[in-house]
Amino acid sequence: MAIVSPSILSADFGNLHSDIQSVQTADWLHVDVMDGRFVPNITIGPLVVKAARRSWAKVLDVHLMIVEPDRYIQDFRDAGADIITVHAEACTHLHRSIQAIHASGAQAGVSLNPHTSEHVLDYVLDQLDLVLIMSVNPGFGGQSMIEAVLPKIEKIRRRIDAKGLKTLIEVDGGVKVNNAHQFINAGAHALVSGSGIFKAENRTNVISQLQAL
Ligand code: DX5
Ligand code: ZN
Repeated sequence: MAIVSPSILSADFGNLHSDIQSVQTADWLHVDVMDGRFVPNITIGPLVVKAARRSWAKVLDVHLMIVEPDRYIQDFRDAGADIITVHAEACTHLHRSIQAIHASGAQAGVSLNPHTSEHVLDYVLDQLDLVLIMSVNPGFGGQSMIEAVLPKIEKIRRRIDAKGLKTLIEVDGGVKVNNAHQFINAGAHALVSGSGIFKAENRTNVISQLQAL
C-alpha cells in the first residue's frame, strides 16, 4: 500500500476546508510553502497551515521551498506540521536544519531537486524520517514528471534498506495514476499528487488507485 499525500497547491483556497474534506481517505496532506526566492512562486505561510490543520486529523506533511528555512521551522511546527521537509539546496548547514526540525518536535525530511545527487544525503540519511524526491523542478503544480529521477530513487532505497533504516521515500511532481507505478517500483513509499487528485472528477477513486500500488 502506497502512502498518498494530496498537495493542496491544486486545491481551491476559497474552499479549503471542503477541498480537504474531499480527500479524507488519503493518508497524509501535503502543503507546499514557497517564498518567491528559492522557487519563483509564492504560496502560503504558517497561517494557512494552521487553517489546514483544523480540517485534517492525520499526518500534515509540510514541504518548505524557502531559503533559510531554519528561521521558520518552529512556526510551522506550532501551526501543526507533523513532518517538516527542507531542501538540501536551501540549507548551508543541512545537519543543523535537521536537528532544528527534530528539536521542534516534528519529523524531519530532506528534499532533493531533480538535478541534485543522492550523495548530499551521505552523512545525514540515518537522521531522516523522510527523503522527498522532486520529480519536477519545484515551484508549480501541473508539470510533467522527469523520468531521470527514477534511478536516484532506486539508489536511495537500496541504501535505506542496506542500513536497516525506517526512512521513507516520497516523490513529488507529475505523479498520476498512469505513471505512479514507476515511482513505487523504483522504491518510493509515498506519493504526492496535486493536480492528479484535485483536478480529477472522482478524487476518492484516484486516491484509492494510488494507495493500491
Ligand atoms: C511542486 C510542489 C508539488 C506540487 C505537485 O513544486 O512541490 O507538491 O503541488 O503538483 P502536481 O502533482 O500537480 O505535479
Ligand atoms: Zn511539494
